[in-house]
Amino acid sequence: MKKNQLDALHSWFDSYVEPFLATDREGVQNIRLKIEHTRKVCEVMALLSDGEGLSENEAIIAAAVALLHDVGRFPQYRRWRTFLDSDSDNHARLAIDVIREEKVLAGIDPSEQLLIEEAVRFHNMLAPPAGIQSPTRKYINLIRDADKLDIWRVFVEMLALPPEQRPSAITLGLEDLPGTVSESCIVMLNAGSIVRLDSILCVNDFRLLQISWVYDLTCDTSRRILRERGYIPVLAASLPERADIREAVSKALASLSA
Ligand SMILES: [Fe+2]
Repeated sequence: MKKNQLDALHSWFDSYVEPFLATDREGVQNIRLKIEHTRKVCEVMALLSDGEGLSENEAIIAAAVALLHDVGRFPQYRRWRTFLDSDSDNHARLAIDVIREEKVLAGIDPSEQLLIEEAVRFHNMLAPPAGIQSPTRKYINLIRDADKLDIWRVFVEMLALPPEQRPSAITLGLEDLPGTVSESCIVMLNAGSIVRLDSILCVNDFRLLQISWVYDLTCDTSRRILRERGYIPVLAASLPERADIREAVSKALASLSA
């Protein structure tokens, strides 16, 4: 894939998202959030490509994956007014529909088209299918890491705002109840596993889920960026003061330096 093909993808993205902004104030806020998220994931992806020593061609493919991974969010929000896949449709599958309908990968080497589509398709699974081999696996890992690194940013920034100023779709409709936290989520984090999305009942559970993503990062560059950005201590600072939570968070932090 060539640099000018990536430039053309960026131009396509800009004109594709534009009409989705023709909506009400709440909608504009939520759509803007996803446009900004995409740009930041592209920035993180460039850091990961650099840190992990990707070739120039690999870095261009990774950049295309970053740009396209969430294009399904725009039709998803327009149709269902939510970013919750369980209340609408799988946004990775929707992204593939957009990529094909809009023929955005036309002219790109078919094997590279496949790599891009597969990385987009699997970017949001709890765990990518076991049988997937490299090089597909490499791009799936990169986009999953880049995506998480920016979702941490979004969440940390949004939770710093007063609740009424937060974009409505960001906390998945969960209530922010200081002091409330689900025992099962603490247990999962303490065991070093990913907190399951279907087990979260409030914003503190969502914080635990996001902290547990440290166990899902796939490369050292991602762990280094997360340490430098310091998102985990910020997320943990709003959790209830409890020994088991403190212990679970310490373990998660220690895993970043291991
Ligand atoms: Fe994303």
